[in-house]
Amino acid sequence: MSIAEKFLTMEYGPAPEDPKEAISWLERHQRRFQHFIDGGWKSPEGGGYFDTHDPSNDEKLASIAQGNAADINAAVKAARAASGEWRALTPHVRARYLYALARLVQKHSRLLAVLETMDNGKPIRESRDIDIPLVARHFYYHAGWAQILPQEFPNHEPCGVVGQIIPWNFPLLMLAWKIAPALATGSTVVLKPAEFTPLTALLFAELCQEAGLPSGVVNIVTGDGSTGEALVKHADVDKIAFTGSTEVGRAIRSATAGSHKRLSLELGGKSPFIIFEDADLDSAVEGLVDGIWFNQGQVCCAGSRLLMQESIAEALISRIRDRMATLRIGPPLDKAIDIGAIVARVQLERIQRMVAQGIADGATCWQPEMTLPSRGFYFPPTLLSNVHPTSIVAQQEIFGPVLAAMTFRTPREAVELANNTVYGLASCVWSENVNVALQVAAQLKAGVVWVNCTNLFDASCGFGGYRESGYGREGGREGLLEYMQPTWLRHSPKLALTKSGRAPELEGTENEDNPDASTPSIDRTVKLYIGGKQTRPDSGYSVEVRSPDGGLLGEAPLGNRKDIRNAVEAARKAEGWAKTTAHNRAQVLYYFAENLSLRRSEIAQRLGLSVGQEQATKEVDLGIERIFSYAAWADKFDGAVHNPPFRNIAIAMNEPIGTVSVICPSDAPLLGFLSLVMPLLAVGNTVVAVPSEKYPLITGDLYQIFDTSDLPGGAINIVTGYVSQLLKTLAEHDDVDAIWCYGDDATVASAKAMSVGNLKQVWTNEGRAIDWFNPSVAEGRWYLEHATQVKNIWVPYGE
Ligand code: NAI
Repeated sequence: MSIAEKFLTMEYGPAPEDPKEAISWLERHQRRFQHFIDGGWKSPEGGGYFDTHDPSNDEKLASIAQGNAADINAAVKAARAASGEWRALTPHVRARYLYALARLVQKHSRLLAVLETMDNGKPIRESRDIDIPLVARHFYYHAGWAQILPQEFPNHEPCGVVGQIIPWNFPLLMLAWKIAPALATGSTVVLKPAEFTPLTALLFAELCQEAGLPSGVVNIVTGDGSTGEALVKHADVDKIAFTGSTEVGRAIRSATAGSHKRLSLELGGKSPFIIFEDADLDSAVEGLVDGIWFNQGQVCCAGSRLLMQESIAEALISRIRDRMATLRIGPPLDKAIDIGAIVARVQLERIQRMVAQGIADGATCWQPEMTLPSRGFYFPPTLLSNVHPTSIVAQQEIFGPVLAAMTFRTPREAVELANNTVYGLASCVWSENVNVALQVAAQLKAGVVWVNCTNLFDASCGFGGYRESGYGREGGREGLLEYMQPTWLRHSPKLALTKSGRAPELEGTENEDNPDASTPSIDRTVKLYIGGKQTRPDSGYSVEVRSPDGGLLGEAPLGNRKDIRNAVEAARKAEGWAKTTAHNRAQVLYYFAENLSLRRSEIAQRLGLSVGQEQATKEVDLGIERIFSYAAWADKFDGAVHNPPFRNIAIAMNEPIGTVSVICPSDAPLLGFLSLVMPLLAVGNTVVAVPSEKYPLITGDLYQIFDTSDLPGGAINIVTGYVSQLLKTLAEHDDVDAIWCYGDDATVASAKAMSVGNLKQVWTNEGRAIDWFNPSVAEGRWYLEHATQVKNIWVPYGE
């Protein structure tokens, strides 16, 4: 073709990136890689290797060591041995190591980008311009945190040894998201890359050597799911950080339930991409290209569900098709390619299967005419329209270049459809009306909302999900907290094992339906408190409550599953509490404290019969202070405005988690209850609380005060009874978003194990005693941070 002809057609010619440096790096290693343990290369204990391929042509790239439990053990030992010295370094020295890693990533950026593209199949344009620059940015950003950590997080310590398991879609970026905050906060690491894409992690190991990182601080063990499983199960790992499928996230959650390992999970998504009729449609279509066709759609936050306002649907679909027809699919090392290869045959088959299922469910499938390369794993950009919101392609993560399109009429319907998913990772809103866009953004249940933009990431902005997209954040201040804990916690004594869990029915006393059952010899019979009303228990039974010397103090209802269900329903209905202003919530809490003050001596006297007068007086007085504290915090636990290096701001909002259940401490019936429930209420959660098993009669005092304190009915619900029984129902309840469980080792282990179903957030005292009488450990930010989840709303500026 002549130059004149080319000028007329404007056809792209091939623009291949030269892989020669990456190939010579592979050759230098004889295309065979061992584990990186304790600063050096170690052959796999089991002797096995597996192959990693270039998905663009299915050619083998290298043999990779298959890790087993012995390899993991060696790596964990090395990480443990390095841990003391690493955490003892001065902040400045740790900062310099992270800075050195950032510089080295930049120095080797082209090699890293080419290697990433060869191993993963993503277009070089993306690995070169997005993945690797973000990796460097993460190390720079966290070098900064390492430097100022003690100033910003006094009285915190690192987790210790951290096990990290990452997926194949952003191999080096996910490594950076995991390793940078861990190192910055003083933890050491064993990382397992995904089996399809281990190469850049192994090159990163060399960068650690080049940076002179002390041996054992970073260890990389390669292998498949079984290697990951061995890491999860290793007894000497203090925390697991995982990114990958929801299914494996759930398995990890189960596997760690009986341990004290901390856990952060970044799982799947089915993110809505909402386009209103007043959107700039050309921009929205370009956004969509980045939203769903970026990285072949193998993106956890891909905008895979297109929600279009009905009035523009037809025109929009036509523009989307036109744009799809111009997308270029082909060998990913070509710099002019938009869509590269799918990571592996199994993933390609999975996409094919799901699209076929979508069509069988009634969707209309459209794909532009394009020739796919004859070798390798490719799937064309695909638009499924007429998708029913309940169809499998609207509900399940496809993890491929497939867009499922639906329509809506009103903003309200858009929000309903958007939130009609078990996930909650990300979302996009396109509208030129800033009021509508921000109003909708606030209502979306997702960790990230991009307004008039999409798939923007920065180290300063936490990333992570709501609901079954996991919990914990990566990036930002909140991301660091995942790798730290208050120093006092580890040194706090263990709670003695209690005997909760006896056969309740046998111990209950039948008395209800008969108001006269409170015979004169019984001081008090309290009720449950559900939806702002005092209610009798469904069981019709109550439990005797006795003082330490055996005297009968009263009776408390024996709550059961039905009572819990009613309480959860009431709590869910009261979620308007989250929408009241922070000022209003503060006023309600102040009023509650005021009313408790008025009845101070009467309540202390009654509580004293169970815990002794001295403790009771302290509980009431400190309780009043604690409520004041959280009333104070209610309008001060603000978010932040980040300035990522784009023309955007990201508004980080501390949002309530939703409906939270609380298993309260037994030994400080009033103060323990207030210490856990008040931070949750202060930030707008609704609560179902199981009060102290030892002295549940406190409920009677509490609800009388709640009743007179303007707290909306249902914001707090109290169900008395046996912890073991009520915990099970609460933990298994799919409409409870989080569970806070204070108890001994056995109780917290069962809270973790039983709440795996909907992956609700679980926060416990890890069986350790918290001194509720010491405000420096029993109140403040640590509680508020667990009572909220950060949503980042990205808003662009400029023309
Ligand atoms: P996966 O969740 O199985 O793999 C992620 C990582 O976990 C890999 O390193 C893997 O070796 C490891 N792993 C697997 N089983 C494990 C276990 N029992 N214990 C510990 N670690 C384990 O994801 P996979 O099979 O590669 O992809 C399947 C689907 O998962 C995809 O089609 C996609 O829908 C979803 N996915 C989501 C990702 C996300 O970022 N949200 C990333 C990767 C996959």
